[in-house]
Amino acid sequence: MDVMQLLATRRTFRAFTQEPVPADVIADILEAGRLANCGANRQSLRFVAAQRPEDVARLCEWTRWAAALPEGAGTPSPEQRPTFYVVILQDTSVPGCSDVDVGIAAAGMTTAAWAKGVGSCIIGTLHRAKTAQWLKLPENLQVHTGIAFGYPAHKSTVVPLENGKKDYWRDENGDYYVPKYAIEEIVRYL
Ligand SMILES: Cc1cc2nc3c(=O)[nH]c(=O)nc-3n(C[C@H](O)[C@H](O)[C@H](O)COP(=O)(O)O)c2cc1C
Repeated sequence: MDVMQLLATRRTFRAFTQEPVPADVIADILEAGRLANCGANRQSLRFVAAQRPEDVARLCEWTRWAAALPEGAGTPSPEQRPTFYVVILQDTSVPGCSDVDVGIAAAGMTTAAWAKGVGSCIIGTLHRAKTAQWLKLPENLQVHTGIAFGYPAHKSTVVPLENGKKDYWRDENGDYYVPKYAIEEIVRYL
């Protein structure tokens, strides 16, 4: 797929088929995290990869899904949970930990997944304290962000943003519509 087409269609998905993510795609996702650009090449990120349904379920429960929708509306049912989940950790003993590094890694990982048809949802609301306790993390490793992966069970489409309304919505089939600004609204050419 053309890279712009890949980026245009690499949306957030919150319900998934139960077809497992193949091992080679999981390897690609983690490799994208390993190879990610990072400030001063500090490489402060570590990754926890969860595939067991009970582990993924636990991480899913510690998440607020789809904050723009009514509570629970975007939460995947047990039959539509992600099948793979990555927790991104920061090693705070490395000087200069950066949220930007996490974002770049997450973008690369979700793009690598989508190149193989695997959708994702970046999770900023993962309950960090519960996750850290469960993973028995040493003091220097801090939970930053989760990413849920799986084959999408719904569609998601970018639509024009109207009247400043940025909240995404779903139709009766559970498909998402995600309003984005037009390019001329956000870019100033010098
Ligand atoms: C840093 C970050 C944190 C996010 N956290 C959550 C989250 O906790 N729960 C969730 O359902 N979606 C989460 N999302 C997904 C966003 O809601 C989604 O990216 C946004 O609505 C735009 O949709 P799009 O990704 O299809 O462009 C997060 C996305 C990012 C980039």
